[in-house]
Amino acid sequence: MAENFYQQTVESPDTPFDISLRPPAFSEFSGQAKIRERLELMVEAAKQRGDVLDHILLSGPPGLGKTTLAYILANSMGVNIKNTSGPMIEKAGDLAGLLTTLERGDVLFIDEIHRLQPAIEEYLYPAMEDYKLDIIIDQGPSARSVRLNLPKFTLIGATTRAGMISSPLRSRFGMTSRLDYYVAEELQKIIRRSAGLLGVEIDEAGALEIASRSRGTPRVSNNLLRWVRDYAQVKADKKITRDIADRALAMLEIDRDGFDEMDKRIVEALIHKFSGGPVGLNSLAVAIGEDAGTLEDVNEPYLIMQGYIKRTPQGRVALARAYEKLGIKPGRTQQDLFGG
Ligand SMILES: Nc1ncnc2c1ncn2[C@@H]1O[C@H](COP(=O)(O)OP(=O)(O)OP(=O)(O)O)[C@@H](O)[C@H]1O
Ligand SMILES: [Mg+2]
Repeated sequence: MAENFYQQTVESPDTPFDISLRPPAFSEFSGQAKIRERLELMVEAAKQRGDVLDHILLSGPPGLGKTTLAYILANSMGVNIKNTSGPMIEKAGDLAGLLTTLERGDVLFIDEIHRLQPAIEEYLYPAMEDYKLDIIIDQGPSARSVRLNLPKFTLIGATTRAGMISSPLRSRFGMTSRLDYYVAEELQKIIRRSAGLLGVEIDEAGALEIASRSRGTPRVSNNLLRWVRDYAQVKADKKITRDIADRALAMLEIDRDGFDEMDKRIVEALIHKFSGGPVGLNSLAVAIGEDAGTLEDVNEPYLIMQGYIKRTPQGRVALARAYEKLGIKPGRTQQDLFGG
């Protein structure tokens, strides 16, 4: 079991391309300044005391750097990191197999920690608090509980669904940080760094063009950069300028604001089907055929940050910018347009 399990856990969801662009140290990690400072301080303090880093929970939409930060934390502490995810831990034995291979100070990284089964969570509490794991071995009359003493370790949890973390679990983390979308200037820096690693020539304006169409997300920036590099190689003289980036992204149908398919559907549904709102989260989710939780935690935060929609106690409301986006005047709704 353990061997097989380990093989599963070493796999990373990111492609080798992505990994090579992943900053290995805080000094190469752009943006998220407050979180970075806090985490750097924790590392420094723990190192000064010769102590183990406290447990850390990182939350936020996909592709903003949660996994990257977990690896940077382990690197800067000079410890090993074991990578797994909530749904991969099916039995208490899986958890025991992982925890018992850790050395003092090592990081256990649990991605999608909100998908841990409640029973596994129960096992995790004493492991996090007292570095002990009580497991039941055998079945029937010979069943007995065995206490395993664990080395002092650091649990780093990552989740896109902070709201789904139970409060007993959340309270056992010494630090919880929520990552937010990046502004274009930060993404521009990330793109320039990535271009350097890929050996692609890009000017400031070219990097800014890709940055502002990346939906505030470094992973998207890197993916778009790779595409624009291909485009520049085939259609131009390899160098990425604003014009080249614009033409390359137009070919991918990435609009000026970086809207993806789901963003468009949300804004369209809100305005055309619900007269601009207010509409409840669940009704909106049904209308666009998306899970309410995903809508709330993955898509909405970006649209809210950008000022397209807002959350009110009555529900979601389209703002002027959303109407502009669809090329209609605020207040002109389905009824006005189609005579409903
Ligand atoms: N601050 C940053 N500076 C430079 N590159 C970054 C930064 N944040 C993320 N990246 C790049 O974006 C990619 C995606 O980041 P990462 O895998 O850490 O996101 P994540 O938050 O774990 O996403 P998911 O929720 O999908 O697991 C990384 O491989 C890295 O190349
Ligand atoms: Mg990740």
